[in-house]
Amino acid sequence: MADNFAQTVKAQVDITRIVGEYLKLRKSGANWSALCPFHKEKSGSFYLYPQTSSYYCFGCHEHGDVFTFVMKMDNISFPEAVRAVAQKMGIPLPQRQFNSPEEQREAGLRKQLIDAHEAATQYFQQNLQSPEAARAREYMTSRGITPETVQRFRIGYAPDNFNDMRERLSKFFTDEVLRASGLFSWKEQEDGSAGQMYARFRKRITFPIANEQGKVIAFTARALDTDDKSGPKYMNSPETPLYTKGNVLFNLDKAKAAIKEQDAAVLVEGQMDAISLFMAGVQNVIATSGTAFTEAQVRMLGRFTKRVWLNFDPDNAGMNAAEKTLAMMVEEGFETKVVTLDGGLDPDRFVRERGVQAYAQAVREAARYADFLVARAQQLYPVKTPEGKIKAMNFLLPHIKRIPNAITRVDFANNAAQKLGIENSLMQQEIRQAAQQRLESVRAPQAKLTSLERVLLSALILPDADSARQLASTSLAAHPEWYAQLATAGLIEVLVSGPAPDNALEVAPDQASRVLLATAMQQGIMEAEDGNLSLHALVERALQALHIKQLERRERELRMQIGEAGRRGDNAMTMQLMQEKQHNMQELLRLERELSRTP
Ligand code: UTP
Ligand code: MN
Repeated sequence: MADNFAQTVKAQVDITRIVGEYLKLRKSGANWSALCPFHKEKSGSFYLYPQTSSYYCFGCHEHGDVFTFVMKMDNISFPEAVRAVAQKMGIPLPQRQFNSPEEQREAGLRKQLIDAHEAATQYFQQNLQSPEAARAREYMTSRGITPETVQRFRIGYAPDNFNDMRERLSKFFTDEVLRASGLFSWKEQEDGSAGQMYARFRKRITFPIANEQGKVIAFTARALDTDDKSGPKYMNSPETPLYTKGNVLFNLDKAKAAIKEQDAAVLVEGQMDAISLFMAGVQNVIATSGTAFTEAQVRMLGRFTKRVWLNFDPDNAGMNAAEKTLAMMVEEGFETKVVTLDGGLDPDRFVRERGVQAYAQAVREAARYADFLVARAQQLYPVKTPEGKIKAMNFLLPHIKRIPNAITRVDFANNAAQKLGIENSLMQQEIRQAAQQRLESVRAPQAKLTSLERVLLSALILPDADSARQLASTSLAAHPEWYAQLATAGLIEVLVSGPAPDNALEVAPDQASRVLLATAMQQGIMEAEDGNLSLHALVERALQALHIKQLERRERELRMQIGEAGRRGDNAMTMQLMQEKQHNMQELLRLERELSRTP
């Protein structure tokens, strides 16, 4: 039975290895933590528990096992996920089996759509060798696309023929599959039924668009002629069960290893830009494909790196797109730079005419996000006049407010004011306000600290040698799930993850945290003196209290999960969860007894 196979896979799986392919994991005691891929966040609330082979996000409460993880990440069905995980772990697959007819149908359609795209890719590749494609081949030569590039990117040619492709593919695929593939168009008949299918792409050079695993899921096709009757320059597959435009980054399948390795990506607009750069040796390049960058794409990229060099076209449309894309990435905490190429060339032409060395130089000289925006403001508005300065400043203010880090934000604001020559004190006040505004809009931690937080924070800022500091930092580093729900979790994380800072106030990520820390420093010590207890003893108690709260939370969660597993009829899971629940309960009782014994 398929269920049995899933259990076999689950018993053998190294969940850390599988999840590690998607997320940057950080060791956290016996467990691992990461930025949660299921919701927007800046600190890692996603935890991976190798012991129970499960994950849980304290931010969005997503949870599950290795299969649900892969299902969600790759947007695939349960049986597909079981197979994918088995393959990654080198576990041989049994004959395919499905839990329900719908599952079988869904997985069957997707599988067949992948097959249909593979067949179409080969069909286009073959056609590129045909006599009809002579012009296409000439065109590619003229653009410096080598045979090696053609092969590597599986570039092809869609002939000027309505029926040929359908006739060939219909030998292998049903009408239902072909109609769902997006490779064909048809007219609606007068009686409302669908007319004969015909090839969507004709007389065009075809570029396959692959998913992260390298499977072709769509095409983009460039017209040979760019006159009026040839339609748009690039024509793309419509959205299909396989392909959602905003969820794909062109070339990510080929670039992801290099992006991870270099911890940086070059982002361009056009497929041709990506292809030329990649073949020239820039292996960490991906393309947006000329559409607005989506949040899904930002998050997808964030799984591999948070450093991005943007190299969009130098025209106005390109600059506007760059501005929007940058804003989105900055908000997600990316480090971004903007590459400008000499002579107003696009990346494709630049790398072909000047070579990869010159390109690498341009990347090294890329402007910081802030400098790019100020230059853009200067370019858009004549900043010599007072009105121009106001306009330029108004252009910059929303960008400034978006920057999550307070120091960067203030820095940016001052820098902009200086570069634009803004001396007017009213304007300066406005900039200062903008630089502070984010703090007000973001839910600031309570100005008042709980006594538990005061104790922990004041211990964490003591010198490394202090026993209270040692106890607090080692325990909290091993159990981030204990403090993940505190308002000061971000601050605690910073303090726990490094040696004791010389000046604790400097490590505080923003102004609000600095205030909190300063408060903690004064009050924590006082508290210790008030109660006639050492700070070490207070920390001990605080940690126990945190641990108990965590066990209680887990208890509630387990109750829910057991109910859910029961409804699903997943007995193995129910058993496993019950065991954990029992263990959890014992631990809870033990701790409570201990705590009641201490004075
Ligand atoms: P560009 O017009 O800058 O194309 O559009 P390009 O990459 O320089 O194309 P070449 O060099 O003339 O062949 C950038 C991207 O916008 C999308 C494509 O993804 C293209 O790569 N685009 C452009 C479309 O989807 N449709 C279009 O009609 C034009
Ligand atoms: Mn181009």
